[in-house]
Amino acid sequence: HITPVILSGGSGTRLWPMSRAAKPKQLLALTSTDSMLQLTARRSSDDTRFDRPLVVGNARHAEMIEEQLEAISLPAASLVLEPAGRNTAPAIALAALLTRPDAILLVMPSDHVINDVSAFRAAIETAVPLVEDGWLVTFGIAPTAPDTGYGYIRRGETLAPGIERVEKFVEKPDRATAEAYLAEGCYSWNGGIFLFRADAYLVELGRHAPEMLAAVRESLDKGVRQGQRVYPEEAAFKAAPSDSIDYAVMEKADRVAVVPVDMGWSDVGSWDALHEIAPRDEAGNAEHGEIVSIDTSNCLLRTDGPLVAAIGVKDLIVIATGDAVLIMPRGSSQDVKRAIEKLKASG
Ligand code: GDD
Ligand code: MG
Repeated sequence: HITPVILSGGSGTRLWPMSRAAKPKQLLALTSTDSMLQLTARRSSDDTRFDRPLVVGNARHAEMIEEQLEAISLPAASLVLEPAGRNTAPAIALAALLTRPDAILLVMPSDHVINDVSAFRAAIETAVPLVEDGWLVTFGIAPTAPDTGYGYIRRGETLAPGIERVEKFVEKPDRATAEAYLAEGCYSWNGGIFLFRADAYLVELGRHAPEMLAAVRESLDKGVRQGQRVYPEEAAFKAAPSDSIDYAVMEKADRVAVVPVDMGWSDVGSWDALHEIAPRDEAGNAEHGEIVSIDTSNCLLRTDGPLVAAIGVKDLIVIATGDAVLIMPRGSSQDVKRAIEKLKASG
């Protein structure tokens, strides 16, 4: 059996104002009536192949996570509650330390869309033999633009049908580097989904980030379990350096392999990305909530607050909530972070 590990601790700031610290992206229903977390849990719910998931998230979201998983009858085997985010490398270490050393972990972000689940399942099976042999495996997505928000994987020799050695892993390169990689053609984006044995991950983490591993281990030794909830001890966990698996492990580890897979993947990284994957009407509008649109085309219009009426506009993104409205042209949704920075600066 494979143990799904669902990472639910991110803040999803690029989908402000719907995504908030109190209720981030993964807990929102953005692409269907299910939340992104619920969609993720369903993807690995086949009990002939998967154990119940281990979910790692922020302690402040414990109730919401439990409610959402109970609502789809897929409660977590363990819900590991971080006192504060230390990024993905420590979060995955918690999971790896809580499972058997030979457990095969399927580490999944909780905020992605995968339309072709059978392609995803097939890619997992392609990876299993190498994973049993101690390799760390990631899933490669065909890049479509020199996007700097992704990890880039240079694919090397074929290890077995459908699986290649990772010659180089570069997390979030700058624009010029990403453009050069795209031109070269032998790169995939890192899908952010990983398959490995728990002990293989811990060995690499111990090698490349020993202080982090020690801190996480101590936080569990001193932590408490209440039913399915696991609370790592706060001071020890907070002492772990904050870093992602991509920088801390994947860039540095040696036996890393990639399964390139075409599975209708999107990380819904921005409002523009959501417009691309959402169902649209004949005029190219994706609408959600109470919307009236007249002579309007190619817009993303969403509200869970006031009624929104759009007249004679095109190529706009309008996001309305109970206490904030975001308006910007399509194509500039990466700039949402600038609004957040400005808000923070002005208190
Ligand atoms: N439990 C926990 N704790 N989860 C976290 C934390 C944390 O401190 N920080 C982030 N996560 C969760 C997020 O909720 C998300 O589901 C997942 O871990 C990945 O984190 P992101 O912050 O979204 O990473 P990223 O998008 O910048 O980059 C990663 O994903 C890309 C693909 O979407 C990398 O793996 C890239 O290489 C990759 O291309
Ligand atoms: Mg992400």
